[in-house]
Amino acid sequence: MKSFYLTTAIDYVNGLPHLGHAYEKVLTDVIARFHRQLGDRVHFLTGVDEHGQKVQQAAQARGIPPQQYVDETGAEFRALLPLLNISNDDFIRTTEARHQQVVRRLLQQLFDQGEIYQAEYKGFYSTLAEQFLQEKDRLPDGSWPEIFGEVTGITETNYFFKLRKYQDWLVDYITQHGDFIFPRFRQKQVLEFLKEPLNDLCISRPRDRLAWGIPLPFDPNYVTYVWFDALVNYYSAVADTGQWPADIHVIGKDILIPAHAIYWPVMLHALGLPLPKQLLVHGWWSLNDAKMSKSKGNVVVPSDYTGEFGVDALRYFLIREMNVGQDSDFSRAQFLVRYNSELANNLGNLVNRTLNMTTRFGAGVIPAAGPAADAEQELHALWEKTREEVIPLCEGFQFHTALERTMHFVTATNAYIEKRAPWKLGKSAEAADQALLRTSLATMAEALRLAVALLQAVMPAAAARINGVLGYTPGPVWRDELAWGTRLTGAKVAEALVLFPRPAPAAPPAPKS
Ligand code: MSP
Repeated sequence: MKSFYLTTAIDYVNGLPHLGHAYEKVLTDVIARFHRQLGDRVHFLTGVDEHGQKVQQAAQARGIPPQQYVDETGAEFRALLPLLNISNDDFIRTTEARHQQVVRRLLQQLFDQGEIYQAEYKGFYSTLAEQFLQEKDRLPDGSWPEIFGEVTGITETNYFFKLRKYQDWLVDYITQHGDFIFPRFRQKQVLEFLKEPLNDLCISRPRDRLAWGIPLPFDPNYVTYVWFDALVNYYSAVADTGQWPADIHVIGKDILIPAHAIYWPVMLHALGLPLPKQLLVHGWWSLNDAKMSKSKGNVVVPSDYTGEFGVDALRYFLIREMNVGQDSDFSRAQFLVRYNSELANNLGNLVNRTLNMTTRFGAGVIPAAGPAADAEQELHALWEKTREEVIPLCEGFQFHTALERTMHFVTATNAYIEKRAPWKLGKSAEAADQALLRTSLATMAEALRLAVALLQAVMPAAAARINGVLGYTPGPVWRDELAWGTRLTGAKVAEALVLFPRPAPAAPPAPKS
């Protein structure tokens, strides 16, 4: 069995989880489930980033100790996982001892190797970005970009990691490993960024300015810079288990440069540890074409959608709508379009018809199919094409296209049912019509079973329910499940299943007075 270790970014707990956090978990979950289907031994890690100035400030604003604050808000992030049916194997908090010990061990190793030195820093600091700034970070008019918030001048003695000396190595590494950063256009951005000389990285914050962090093992007057702490989670969660390196780190585009594409590979290289095989960089969701912003109240709360439409509908929408790597816009209107046309009217309809007709014309038992005529052969051929396309699409993270192809097969199956019109065949006493009726019932059920096998990583709960009403338990080898065959012959089906109920229509406009 091949082992496959993948991670999400760990979320800051200085607010509540929204659709952006949900998307990253769902995307990673789909990849994890897909690899389990392929037979890999998957280890899926997610968690929360609990240290740093943002958290310290948020706790201060609430007037509670930071530990209490992270316990409370961290629980909201943790609760998101069952809500979204996420199949993570582990959940890491950066305040846990298992993590802190490893951070301190690695820092001590770098210090002993002479990779860390102390120096006085004179310059500018952005609390919002928790970052030291340079003159070159100013806008042409001399002001600071909005992303840095308030910028103050400081003089401070700190510890620095010798990042700069690894710049040439990093450029070579990224250039030679074309698959390290997905999608490819992000790799180009990183190489572009690396055309400017790097500065050494300040990895400490004086304790009197920031108390909420991991103390440096070689100087208790300082705590560890939050990124140096946070990135290590990927390693600390599996240190000594033999699972490192990770196969994929799934992250958003905002944390590629410099954290994941620069700091993290250089830290690992300096420590003599292998690098993760790939950074999968997804785009951002906006809401109604505006940036999601907590302060403006412009956020999607995942539980609103899972509550109204079910978890699978939200998972389906997120994966169907976003082309991994690009940005996407969320709107209720677009959600409803896909929900109604693809889930309720297409997939839901196929489920209803299969159950209903098997009940009416087959006494609730899926019959054996007779010889395939043209209409059946066409559907078989489309199935072969679909399954051959879908696996490589998923391997290349093109899940939106994989879903589109799968739904096209569902549409074709509904069209097949229209063509065969079992409701007409059922009224005929002719032996040929009865034979065709049996073939059509078997064909629609088998097509549904196959489509479900392709949908199951995205909609695990719906897939389990559909298999349940088909009286079917999938076998252990997923690829074997994708062969058109007779697995359902003789299965006893349920009478009905409402999978994707129509949402209540919007309230009519108030009458004009
Ligand atoms: N704590 C750091 C990550 C440390 S990883 C070692 C952080 N946290 S975050 O909570 O701000 O973001 C967590 C993840 O959510 C990031 O990958 C980020 O890109 C993603 N998203 C946050 N808002 C998003 C959208 N609106 N859309 C899609 N993903 C977004 O950064």
